[in-house]
Amino acid sequence: MISVKRKIRIFTVWLVFTITLCMTSIKAYELWSDLLEQEYKTTGSIARLLDVQLVGSYEDLLRDREELKTKEEKINYYNEILQPIVDRITQSFPQYGAGYYVHDLQSIVAFGPDFTKEGLIDISPTSLARTVYDSKQPYRFYNYSQTRNSLVVAVIHPVIRDGEVIGHVWGNMAIDDVYQKFFEALKTRSIAVIILLILSLFATKYITTQYDKSIQTFRDRVKNMDLDQEEKQSAFLPEFREIYQEVVQSRNRLSESEKRHQKQMTRKILETQEEERKRVARDLHDGIGQALYSLLITLRLIGRKTHESDEQELLNRMEEITSLALEDVKSLAFNLRPAILDELGLVPTIRAFIESYQQIHRIQVNFQLEGETRRLDSITEVSLYRIFQEVLNNAAKYSKTDRILIQLKYTKDIELFIQDFGVGFDSSAIQSTSTGLCGMKERVQLLDGSFHVHSVVGVGTRIHIILHSKDSTKERVS
Ligand SMILES: Nc1ncnc2c1ncn2[C@@H]1O[C@H](COP(=O)(O)OP(=O)(O)OP(=O)(O)O)[C@@H](O)[C@H]1O
Ligand SMILES: [Mg+2]
Repeated sequence: MISVKRKIRIFTVWLVFTITLCMTSIKAYELWSDLLEQEYKTTGSIARLLDVQLVGSYEDLLRDREELKTKEEKINYYNEILQPIVDRITQSFPQYGAGYYVHDLQSIVAFGPDFTKEGLIDISPTSLARTVYDSKQPYRFYNYSQTRNSLVVAVIHPVIRDGEVIGHVWGNMAIDDVYQKFFEALKTRSIAVIILLILSLFATKYITTQYDKSIQTFRDRVKNMDLDQEEKQSAFLPEFREIYQEVVQSRNRLSESEKRHQKQMTRKILETQEEERKRVARDLHDGIGQALYSLLITLRLIGRKTHESDEQELLNRMEEITSLALEDVKSLAFNLRPAILDELGLVPTIRAFIESYQQIHRIQVNFQLEGETRRLDSITEVSLYRIFQEVLNNAAKYSKTDRILIQLKYTKDIELFIQDFGVGFDSSAIQSTSTGLCGMKERVQLLDGSFHVHSVVGVGTRIHIILHSKDSTKERVS
């Protein structure tokens, strides 16, 4: 494909050439016409001059020369008198020709340049000069001249005495000389045209270079995604500015749709994960849990009927193990997905978790609830619970704290604040792959909320979550 730059160059060169060609043709035609007109004027003047130089008529010249009888003698006599006039004129006007013709004698009697006696003959029967004898008017023509033996531009002037055309005189110029003059004049003008052409080519180069620069800047910006600096757009030509703005808009649209897609994916993954946990927790509770419970009841029944102390002791031991296994299954099911979260909501589930947490880890938990509690949509409650679970498990694993403060506020927004008073950690050193903290952040982002971790070594760790979105906290039944 031809680039824009190339197209502009080709178009400009074509335009300049076409205009130049047209203008040159018109100018050349005008030049030729002017030159021809000028030559006709000059040759006309020469012819008139010859007429003026002939004082009186041809016959007046023969007066007192009765001895001249033959046509040849008369022609020679005319030549003696008139040839010097012709010679003077052709010397004064080099390149021009001139001559006398006597109608009575049907002969040329003097001519130049390149005079020869053999030239003193009648003009050809088809000679255009004969027209003046009828019209009695000067006649211009462009034709073959027998005295110059070449093509000429000429003016034939009738010699009129007492209303009669007694002969004619002429002035002429060889067409080759006219051409030479024409091409010389054309040469001067051509130089001006060539200079104009060169200038226009330079101008085209300058314009396309500017265009090139703008394209290059545009390409670099788009390539480097340097799309946010509006003030820099002024460096572009208007058409590029438009394209640039379109690229910026599409990039923004694309990144927003990418974000939306990412959110949908995360939400889908979390929902699937929660569904799976729910199923496994139910299976544990209803399957193994029920079986262990039945086993426990059966062991108790057998125990009541057995009186042997050894067997009784064995049964007690079995009862104890079964009971522990049942507790483990219950706690496993609860941690996987507490059934009360769906049935009773976030606050009772948190309370239940805290109760067992305090017993297991021997950490005192101060839970403060503010505002009027309400059910939130399932994804929000599950997310808050999972975050709460992860923060408390982290505190138990790493903080070495003996107390934890939890605040849950139900206002228009939902706010969760958890603080331990343990060893703390350097949050800047935490890897972005750290699943616990990253998972919390991701869940909060999914709910359009804000998530802050603030930890100071030796002081403790504080986690603050705000869910601003009113849409995501769609009220269910309080
Ligand atoms: N309350 C806390 N007190 C002290 N250090 C903490 C606390 N919470 C987190 N940390 C530090 O931050 C790190 C990252 O925590 P995160 O929950 O992301 O990962 P993890 O608990 O190590 O792994 P996972 O949560 O996937 O089991 C922990 O390894 C720990 O060093
Ligand atoms: Mg963790």
